[in-house]
Amino acid sequence: MRILVTGASGRLGGTLVERLVAAGHEVLGWSGATHGRCGGVELRPVDLTDQRAVTLALTEADPEAILHTAAVTSAEAAYRQPQRAAAVNIGATRHLAAWAARHDRRFLYTSTDLVFDGAKSWYGEHDPAEPILEYGRTKRAAEPFVMAIPRGVVARLSLLFGPSRHGTPSFFDLALDALGRGEPRSFFEDEFRTPVDYRTAAAILERLVVSGATGIVHVGGRERLSRFELMRRAAIVRGLDPDLVRANRQADHPAPEPRPADVSLDTTRLATLLPGLERPGIENALDETDPLGGSAATTPSPA
Ligand SMILES: NC(=O)c1ccc[n+]([C@@H]2O[C@H](COP(=O)([O-])OP(=O)(O)OC[C@H]3O[C@@H](n4cnc5c(N)ncnc54)[C@H](OP(=O)(O)O)[C@@H]3O)[C@@H](O)[C@H]2O)c1
Repeated sequence: MRILVTGASGRLGGTLVERLVAAGHEVLGWSGATHGRCGGVELRPVDLTDQRAVTLALTEADPEAILHTAAVTSAEAAYRQPQRAAAVNIGATRHLAAWAARHDRRFLYTSTDLVFDGAKSWYGEHDPAEPILEYGRTKRAAEPFVMAIPRGVVARLSLLFGPSRHGTPSFFDLALDALGRGEPRSFFEDEFRTPVDYRTAAAILERLVVSGATGIVHVGGRERLSRFELMRRAAIVRGLDPDLVRANRQADHPAPEPRPADVSLDTTRLATLLPGLERPGIENALDETDPLGGSAATTPSPA
């Protein structure tokens, strides 16, 4: 399949490019401002807020499917620059989805668990999505444009973890670096997600994009964990001192925007759509000995 990945210079996008190339797809990778190569693919910088440039580049690329991962991804950046976040996260998604609809192409948009307010656990696809963060509001606002097109799918991702093999270092990389230097780091013990590692997420998204699935699909790991629990287990896997991983609580860090307490995702629909889906636990996911991960999520499926 000829697949365009937006955000190919990012952490998830870069992992996806690698995954898609390895699976034999013809891959086109767009970045925002980054030049160079990723996963053997030459990045093409395309500012997604420039609609004319995007339309021209789409005509040239002529993809059968678009995997749209580009976004303003930091909650802090979205809070500080809401107009930029809206232009990228909403405006660009709307434009790309409209092009995909006009040309009868597959379109997968990566949304987030932060579309929920965090007042309950294990959110399903039909639960009301009422974001309390500006970032979540922009990601949520783009979803209807994707749901309205015949071949659109909204993949709401939970917290992604694992070493960033592409893009800028994540909280995970920075934390492990600090722990490796013997410096303690603190993480919320009262904020819950269903974390999934980058490689498993990429494998799932590949299967979803080639499938006929439409509508909203929740994509997360099997376990509901706080970042404190996640990082403690990661430290142990990496042979670092787990006691350097300290617990704190949201109330210890008053922020301009309150963070949702529990946005764990119910992934029953995902498991139904992708028969045979297996997601590695935290420890297996962090096994770097296999360049593409040993997850059964990577097993090709007719789904
Ligand atoms: N990370 C998580 O835990 C998480 C959780 C749930 C959902 N998600 C979603 O998953 C996707 C990927 O997240 P990530 O953390 O891997 O992203 P990331 O590493 O922050 O990368 C963001 C990407 O977006 C591109 N981009 C930003 N503004 C752009 C613009 N105006 N035009 C074109 N490209 C632009 C960047 O390009 P340049 O750097 O080249 O400028 C980069 O490739 C996002 O849609 C995010 O909302 C992430």
